[in-house]
Amino acid sequence: MRAVVVTSPQGPDGLVVEDVPPPVPGPGEVLVRVRAAGINRADLMQRAGRYPPPAGVTDRLGLEVSGVVAAVGAGVDAWTEGDRVCALTDGGGYAELVVVPARQVLRVPAGVDLLDAAALPEAVCTAWSNLVTVGGLAAGSSVLVHGGSGGVGVVAVQLAAALGAQVLTTAGGAARAERCLELGATVAIDHRREDVLTRVLEMTDGRGVDVVLDILGAGALDMNLRALTTGGRLVVIGLQQGRRGEIDLGLLLARRASVIGTTLRARPPEEKAAIVDAVRDVVWPMVADGRVRPVVHARLPLAEADAGHELLASGEAFGKVLLVP
Ligand SMILES: NC(=O)c1ccc[n+]([C@@H]2O[C@H](COP(=O)([O-])OP(=O)(O)OC[C@H]3O[C@@H](n4cnc5c(N)ncnc54)[C@H](OP(=O)(O)O)[C@@H]3O)[C@@H](O)[C@H]2O)c1
Repeated sequence: MRAVVVTSPQGPDGLVVEDVPPPVPGPGEVLVRVRAAGINRADLMQRAGRYPPPAGVTDRLGLEVSGVVAAVGAGVDAWTEGDRVCALTDGGGYAELVVVPARQVLRVPAGVDLLDAAALPEAVCTAWSNLVTVGGLAAGSSVLVHGGSGGVGVVAVQLAAALGAQVLTTAGGAARAERCLELGATVAIDHRREDVLTRVLEMTDGRGVDVVLDILGAGALDMNLRALTTGGRLVVIGLQQGRRGEIDLGLLLARRASVIGTTLRARPPEEKAAIVDAVRDVVWPMVADGRVRPVVHARLPLAEADAGHELLASGEAFGKVLLVP
């Protein structure tokens, strides 16, 4: 089968399509014939050597796919050949075939394009687990989603809105902010022109928000703490502005606030399966009725993986970039 292999941390020819032996599904696994694979910022970091895969999993790129079940391993009875699925992979999604734990597979709802479904698993599982399970977001509460224009952000905004939360989000530029409003954000702040903290406090009558979903890390740490209301939760999932910061512990105490960090990829299989189960029960009905939909900026052939990485790194994409084998 054809798969993308990393030959250099940089483009333009660092990602090359090669013929490699096809994977074989083991017990509890499903072989998916990939129709599309989502590109995630984590892939860019892994390629650059800054986000190594956990021990024991493939070092090939690709954390989410959509496609058709091609075969199942021993003990798998929930899936059969021909099922239209999308899945959170443990890696290796940039390929014609990928093996996935059966419990990380979701059926593509009717009405959702099979290719576009590749934009969902990583973003939905990340948004659900961090907004709701970790962040405790519920109807009537408020959230600041940094980067509502990104692959994770477009889903986090829609999901939080569907849950009945007040959704404040940021994006780079007026046009991108406007698109976040179309996704259901109550307030979209252009972080290039506006002071995010001032706007958050303005829009919450000085109270601040219950949850911040943060992708920036150190560079936004102080601002994020100041944006929290009493008892608020800062959930850090990305470090785009650095990993080492200084915390004003006085602020943390006064607000009885929490700072929590997570990564989806490092979670053990049981935890990933539990997240996928919750997504199937709670978020999938929202996908089926259109409250949460995939937002795809571009579909590129597998052989243009380098261009896909460049597009994501350029900051021009709104939503996901997909690779199509
Ligand atoms: N911990 C986890 O489990 C987990 C899982 C998935 C993703 N992540 C992390 O989540 C982040 C987003 O991933 P992704 O795949 O969605 O990437 P992406 O599609 O490239 O999105 C990146 C986002 O960053 C925004 N951004 C850039 N500079 C910004 C700034 N100064 N202020 C606010 N936003 C800014 C971009 O918005 P504009 O261009 O509009 O400014 C864009 O929305 C990454 O850091 C990734 O590592 C973590």
